[in-house]
Amino acid sequence: MKIGAPKESARGEARVALTPESAKQIQKLGHECLVEAGAGIAAGFDDEAYREAGVTVVENAEALWAEADIVIKVREPSEQEAERLRQGQTLISFFWPAQNEALLDKCKAQGATVIAMDMVPRISRAQKMDALSSMANIAGYRAVIEAGNNFGRFFTGQVTAAGKVPPAKVLIVGAGVAGLSAIGTATSLGAVVRAFDVRPEVAEQIESMGAEFLFLDFEDTQDGSESGGYAAPSSPEFREKQLECFREQAPDVDIVITTALIPGRPAPKLWLEDMVKAMKPGSVVVDLAAEKGGNCDLTKPDEKVVSDNGVTIVGYTDFPSRMATQSSLLYATNVRHMLTDLTPEKDGAVVHNMEDDVIRGATVTHQGEITFPPPPPKVKAIAAAKPKEKVKEPTPAEKKAAELATFKAQTKRQATLLGVGGVLMLLLGQVAPASFMQHFVVFVLACFVGFQVIWGVSHSLHTPLMAVTNAISGIIILGAILQIGSGSVIVGILAAISVLIASINIVGGFLVTRRMLAMFQKS
Ligand code: NAI
Repeated sequence: MKIGAPKESARGEARVALTPESAKQIQKLGHECLVEAGAGIAAGFDDEAYREAGVTVVENAEALWAEADIVIKVREPSEQEAERLRQGQTLISFFWPAQNEALLDKCKAQGATVIAMDMVPRISRAQKMDALSSMANIAGYRAVIEAGNNFGRFFTGQVTAAGKVPPAKVLIVGAGVAGLSAIGTATSLGAVVRAFDVRPEVAEQIESMGAEFLFLDFEDTQDGSESGGYAAPSSPEFREKQLECFREQAPDVDIVITTALIPGRPAPKLWLEDMVKAMKPGSVVVDLAAEKGGNCDLTKPDEKVVSDNGVTIVGYTDFPSRMATQSSLLYATNVRHMLTDLTPEKDGAVVHNMEDDVIRGATVTHQGEITFPPPPPKVKAIAAAKPKEKVKEPTPAEKKAAELATFKAQTKRQATLLGVGGVLMLLLGQVAPASFMQHFVVFVLACFVGFQVIWGVSHSLHTPLMAVTNAISGIIILGAILQIGSGSVIVGILAAISVLIASINIVGGFLVTRRMLAMFQKS
């Protein structure tokens, strides 16, 4: 079959559905690849790169649509492009069938099969074809970069000679694919990140990425999960609690990235006008849901606006296209995987198996019929998390009693040890000479004090603590130097050995400490 990728006709769209890399893989399935001249230039792939990958470069869109058996594209087809579809031809692209009914009718009338990449069900087996996730991942990353571009400070906290810089505080609302990607990016830049989602199962993921999950003090379950990996609408009471939490956060956070969405519904309004007003001047809101009306009251789709109190609100809807090379690489791979599933024998023959969950879910027109909406996916996308067992917090009185008991036990142990030590010392004093006892008592007391000091230090700090016990080595060197000049040869040799070993300890201690600290430094 001939698989052809035209140049995207939507204004400003820089992505392309076929890359030289994906073309090589598609050819291995027994297909032939075509691309419209100049289709990949905005994404960084010139015609020559395609030719080298064995792709035929076709002069114009008309010729490409006429020649290709399967047209692969990023955006849904324009009116004119839909006109070009013909009986038996297949189109693979984003399509948004629920919002594009007229277009759906048109494609059906043309007799074409349409596979909507946005309708690929979110089940494990289909992850490699999940173009929505690929794009959302990029959008989440880019949202943080865009926020940084509009934010006048560092993300990471720093202590510099010119003063201390606090880390930026970032709040992510909605921890789906885009949200998690934004959390990962913001934490890796050093920001303090908080996140909220109606689905409780994401709390662990959020925390494992180094962010704080904002739990609501809400009696009823916080379970907003529904089948298909998406959220269900939350109750008005829940929403009130959520808004209350956001209102508390607003004056504290510097950057808010909103990604909350329930598919097929307008984006819920979660960052209200009064919250923007409560934010500090210079703060930034990036609203990823702008295309669906936005999560923020003040969002203007495709625009960047600045509120009266100096808060920048970014409502761009083309974040993936702003990173066209990366998006094209991922999207083309998703399409290539779809073609792999459509070509089970790898012999260039397409088998459109409507029994296959993924192909069925994504097909919106087939054999002159509209096949949208598909039946719900049989597999639950993400197993609902087991509710966390609540650990009963001890009351202040219980805490105090526990502390007192520990203290008493410790004191008893120490008193016993001291008693035993004292008796041993007395017994030794009966036989040992007075000069020995004088030094021995100092030695025992030094051991006791040293032990008590180190005992209070956390285990993880023992190695650096030991590494910098250079003070002890310093005293040894001092004593040894004083002894080197003594008349006895043996004392001189022993003193020299002491100086050598203590010096090794000091230098080694510094080296070990340096290495340990380097482990915590970001390269
Ligand atoms: P997703 O469905 O994976 O994530 C949405 C998250 O919002 C879910 O975790 C859901 O539980 C949560 N959510 C729903 N209602 C909520 C509420 N009331 N409060 C808190 N959380 C709530 O979607 P994905 O793929 O992460 O996309 C997120 C958004 O980014 C969508 O609006 C999508 O259209 C948009 N997007 C925007 C792009 C752009 O260029 N601006 C590009 C790609 C995606």
